[in-house]
Amino acid sequence: MVCRNPKYGEEAVETVKKESKNEKIYLQICDVSLQKDIRNFVKKFLKENQKLNCIVNNAGVLLNEKQMTSEKIDKTFATNIIGTFLLTELLIPLLEKSEDPRVISVSSGGMYTQKLDFDYEFKKYEKKWDGALAYGMTKRQQVVLTEFWSKKYEKTGIQFSSMHPGWADTKGVQTSLPTFRETLKNSLRTAEEGSDTIVWLAISNNKKMKSENGKFYFDRSSTSPHLTWGGTEESKEDQQKFYDDLVKMTSWSIEEDEEKEKEEIIIEKKNEEIEEIKKEE
Ligand SMILES: NC(=O)c1ccc[n+]([C@@H]2O[C@H](COP(=O)([O-])OP(=O)(O)OC[C@H]3O[C@@H](n4cnc5c(N)ncnc54)[C@H](OP(=O)(O)O)[C@@H]3O)[C@@H](O)[C@H]2O)c1
Repeated sequence: MVCRNPKYGEEAVETVKKESKNEKIYLQICDVSLQKDIRNFVKKFLKENQKLNCIVNNAGVLLNEKQMTSEKIDKTFATNIIGTFLLTELLIPLLEKSEDPRVISVSSGGMYTQKLDFDYEFKKYEKKWDGALAYGMTKRQQVVLTEFWSKKYEKTGIQFSSMHPGWADTKGVQTSLPTFRETLKNSLRTAEEGSDTIVWLAISNNKKMKSENGKFYFDRSSTSPHLTWGGTEESKEDQQKFYDDLVKMTSWSIEEDEEKEKEEIIIEKKNEEIEEIKKEE
């Protein structure tokens, strides 16, 4: 389990251990909105010679206020897209070594009204933030990315799927969408019901599902990610541009970053020394 908060992560690990009676549940701490954290986690994970069969990109946020990460990227975009993209891309070489590898990205029905958009900083909501629409945009991007990956990595044998869990009464819905929750309170799913298709996509041997790649699922069935007459279809060129943009946004290495940090420390020290000399004079 890859979690950002050690306390919540440990609690979740204990719950899964207890309910599954499986002691082999391990916690990795990583904030998937931060590229540096993802790279550190992957580096460590690769050194451990672990086997990897399946990645579930589940972490996601719908923020009622615009927030930026310490890496100066919009937090909704960083968590929902950079996290999904970078974590998966860095682990593909390991993933493709296993027998029946799968990647599941938890999108949302909130993407139905959104078309692929390149406004990664959400400039359109600069004057008035709209967290639900920004969230929907990133959830559309996850669906596009899934379809793109299935073609790009066709030869690896990895199966890529995106899905909508249905509207479930989770902590996220309670804090981000309280009015929505109140309106739908009698029809919301439990978190367990919401996770059903994720688990099925991860372990099922269903013939139809296994013959598909890059599809969007709801309740154990692939379905169109577009509403009839919705006008949300994107072109192949736009899919490619989106992928290329993500590559550009994430194409720095942790070594470069460490070098930069070292240089900054040296400059800081030199400045301090200059200040000291000035004081003595
Ligand atoms: N619930 C629904 O009705 C619904 C509908 C459609 C789609 N979804 C999707 O389902 C997924 C799960 O949502 P949920 O409803 O269960 O929301 P949630 O209760 O807010 O859970 C989200 C989880 O993501 C983790 N997370 C958030 N940012 C992270 C980061 N930067 N690094 C690592 N972990 C991070 C959170 O960790 P903490 O515990 O540390 O906060 C939390 O465990 C999301 O992708 C969401 O978009 C949910």
